[in-house]
Amino acid sequence: MNPDDRDVAIDNHGASDSIESKDSVSAPATEAYDHFLALVKRRRSCRAFKPDPIPEGHTERILEAARWTMSGANSQPWEFVVVRDKEKIQALYKAYQDHIIDANFWLEQRFPWELRHPGFRLEGDLQAQYRQIQARVGWSRAPVVIAVLGDGRRQLASVSLVSTPGRNQTHLTDALANVSLSIHLAAASLGIAAEWVSIHIQEPFKELLNVPPLLMLHTIIPLGYPQKELSGSYRRKLREIVHYESYDPAKMMTSEDILKYLYRLRESTIRTYVRSRGEQAVPRAPDPGGPNSDAPDSGGPGPGAPRE
Ligand SMILES: Cc1cc2nc3c(=O)[nH]c(=O)nc-3n(C[C@H](O)[C@H](O)[C@H](O)COP(=O)(O)O)c2cc1C
Repeated sequence: MNPDDRDVAIDNHGASDSIESKDSVSAPATEAYDHFLALVKRRRSCRAFKPDPIPEGHTERILEAARWTMSGANSQPWEFVVVRDKEKIQALYKAYQDHIIDANFWLEQRFPWELRHPGFRLEGDLQAQYRQIQARVGWSRAPVVIAVLGDGRRQLASVSLVSTPGRNQTHLTDALANVSLSIHLAAASLGIAAEWVSIHIQEPFKELLNVPPLLMLHTIIPLGYPQKELSGSYRRKLREIVHYESYDPAKMMTSEDILKYLYRLRESTIRTYVRSRGEQAVPRAPDPGGPNSDAPDSGGPGPGAPRE
């Protein structure tokens, strides 16, 4: 496949995309719906924070809203560690850099530059790229960080198939994802920005926060004010993702379409991503024949290696 043959339509303006209602009785939206829609559209991921404190009481307001989140059989497996101590936040961010950013940086080298996660589309040779990720301030200056913990024993409140064999899905992680979203939405309603920091490797963070081994550390959510105003976000169109009565096979993408989609998605979201990190300049692909085409020592394809 030619990666330039990217014909998957992407609308990056977040414009509304209503589809014709199939319901027999129509009614205008409620005021609550309008407020809710405005809120979910306003919420944006922030990846660079001003050090300014957030108003007293807001963190607790956010957590008060979060505790009303739904969970399997109302098991409420979540607990939260609120961190305000600057040194501890910096230590958490250092652990994030040392363990998660480092691993992701190397593993992203598997992909052609244009397909890499936006956080790892960097300029320069491999060493220069690595120095850039090490120098990143990221969320280390956020005034408040919430660590979302889960106690797997609580999901035993739910039905026996809570952790369905053969499916990589549990009521524990579903509930923790739900509560994380509630935190993001509650923060947005108070004018506070947040980042969803995936914790793929939990141990270093659990140690820093004295979390008992039995509990999991699911997400870290820095809260604060964005360094740069956050821009709009892209979403797939409603008509592409909704099926009525049964799945419409015409909407099923082939795997080749998915690859094209991924190229287009990366292209369409890079600007928003760069902005969310408080930066302006969109990184440019290294010149395939130029000095940026160094291969890593492992002998794998370098950042500027031919793409196909
Ligand atoms: C399961 C999940 C994992 C995510 N992991 C991260 C992450 O590790 N770091 C990050 O900055 N954003 C993360 N995000 C945020 C997404 O990148 C973001 O929601 C998406 O790009 C859309 O942008 P928006 O939130 O501004 O609308 C995550 C979101 C979800 C739901």
